[in-house]
Amino acid sequence: MITSSSSSVRTGPCPAQLWIFSSIGKKTIVSLTGIALVLFVIGHLLGNFTIYLGPDAMNLYAEKLHSLGPILWAIRLALLATVVLHIYFTMLLWKENKAARPQKYIASDPIKTTVFARTMRLSGLIVLSFVIFHLAHFTVRVVDPSFQNMETQLDGRQVHDVYAMVVKGFSSAPVVLGYVIGLFLLTFHLSHGISSLFQTLGITNSHIRHTYELAARVLAWALFAGYTSIPIAVFVFGLGKGAAQ
Ligand code: HEM
Repeated sequence: MITSSSSSVRTGPCPAQLWIFSSIGKKTIVSLTGIALVLFVIGHLLGNFTIYLGPDAMNLYAEKLHSLGPILWAIRLALLATVVLHIYFTMLLWKENKAARPQKYIASDPIKTTVFARTMRLSGLIVLSFVIFHLAHFTVRVVDPSFQNMETQLDGRQVHDVYAMVVKGFSSAPVVLGYVIGLFLLTFHLSHGISSLFQTLGITNSHIRHTYELAARVLAWALFAGYTSIPIAVFVFGLGKGAAQ
């Protein structure tokens, strides 16, 4: 005879599922996906810096990436899954936070602090909108359809002229302003997000907390300076003038 207790053991959630949807599991997933996205943002900036080495360097870099074919698609899908998980588990944490709010005890955990959570949510949403615009701008190339047909010669091969596309993309004041605002919000999101993930992962204490916060701020502002240097170099200092017809 099967008792009700034995059937509940068999159909209950597995330990991994229990951990994933526990408070610490959700925070760990938000933190680990956050780290993966920060690593992408650092890598993408290093790739974008090839613009300072000239058209051939940037076009060669883009060409090498595109030649990865299915691997590039696997990376893109992994990146998309990371973004989806980051947002989904952040939303679960907000719901949990909201449900717990009537209780008196709310620790000084940045993810649980209301003002922090609210600003992180808003900056996160604006960063998401910025990334969607950015993909439409330079990846799908629908903001300016002329980007589709920009081609150049590289070692005797016809390749997409990513250098000319970026230069043309940043020849418009509203676009440059939009990027600077989007990057500023990204900096804001990262500077709070990176410092709170040390706490979430339990690798901080009151002595080194300030050092981590400072390191997070320095990294976020270094990324801001690096990224904004590109539209500013093009729009204000005329980098690549003549590259985009
Ligand atoms: C001034 C700043 C930036 C410049 C000049 C820039 C440049 C580019 C270019 C040229 C591409 C298209 C590459 C190609 O298809 O050949 C691209 C793709 C992309 N960028 Fe950026 N980017 C900037 C900032 C950012 C930021 C801050 C993020 C994320 C927060 C980001 C995320 C992406 C993503 C996800 C793709 C699509 C990658 C792919 O699927 O191949 N970019 N970027």
